Amino acid sequence: MIESSNKLFNLQDDEVHVWTARFLDDESTTNELVGLLDQNERARAARFSYRHHRMRFIHFHAIARQILGGYLGLSAADVTFVHGPHGKPETKSGRGCADIQFNLSHSGDYCLLAVRKDHPVGIDLEEVRDLPHALEIAARQFTHAEAKLLARVEDDARRDTFFALWTHKEAVIKALGVSLANLDRMTFGIDPTGHPQLISFDGNRSSDLSLMRLDAPPGYAAALASLHPIPKVMRRTWIGGQDRAPTRRKETAGRSQIAAAMSTKVSPLASEIPQSAADMLFF
Ligand SMILES: CC(C)(COP(=O)(O)OP(=O)(O)OC[C@H]1O[C@@H](n2cnc3c(N)ncnc32)[C@H](O)[C@@H]1OP(=O)(O)O)[C@@H](O)C(=O)NCCC(=O)NCCS
Repeated sequence: MIESSNKLFNLQDDEVHVWTARFLDDESTTNELVGLLDQNERARAARFSYRHHRMRFIHFHAIARQILGGYLGLSAADVTFVHGPHGKPETKSGRGCADIQFNLSHSGDYCLLAVRKDHPVGIDLEEVRDLPHALEIAARQFTHAEAKLLARVEDDARRDTFFALWTHKEAVIKALGVSLANLDRMTFGIDPTGHPQLISFDGNRSSDLSLMRLDAPPGYAAALASLHPIPKVMRRTWIGGQDRAPTRRKETAGRSQIAAAMSTKVSPLASEIPQSAADMLFF
């Protein structure tokens, strides 16, 4: 693969970059950002009944394009996607583009974007909210053991445990590129610190899955999964929207503008979930 010389962001083999972006409700920025989307994304945006939801979709997709374009050495509008059988998007690499894998998750006013070389990743972000029907959902979607575990805790602890389990399970689903119908293929326990730990996948106690709880904005829960070990996570914050994201033309001319419109935290903020099933609080 030929590497492009126009890349703004570099990704090392042992790194997963996790970007956080926050939606900014601004009509004129939205009008600029919509120009970065392709026909399919614009059609999807147009189907939202609520203006806020439509704007959020436009912002998050435009931000993802700008970030991915930074890795690929392409302008945001030139990033093209192909979709897996269950809808998972991948960048279509062409001549001069690096091979990157990514996954996007959005909830409330935030989105997270995970980017890694070569190996599929899955990320899930959920706004933590009261769920009066958490046990019914768990009975339908989780394994019997997980539903039982959830029934043993109450109130805020049940809510937090539900979202911790949900984000971990969905991150795996998204790394695999399948659908939510697969949630019961894996079973998690909760360790003494309240973090989910994978116990089995497809009935096997060992698997190649690698999982991490991610620090998320207050009131949110998040997790990252990959089918390959995750040696290092770098957290980055996209703040381009505040400065107005560059249009396609400006972007080509203004690499430093985009580089200035993001901040980077190089210290790994993710806390890795140990793979050992010791000390599992299960029944
Ligand atoms: C993947 C899925 C679990 C994500 O649901 P969610 O909690 O609503 O959404 P998140 O915000 O975490 O992630 C959504 C993003 O994940 C990506 N995505 C979509 N389908 C995906 C899949 N199967 N696997 C991984 N990522 C996927 C997209 O970037 C999507 O963003 P978009 O909807 O704005 O385009 C859900 O969309 C699903 O079950 N999809 C499968 C549907 C299916 O089987 N369709 C078959 C016909 S296409």
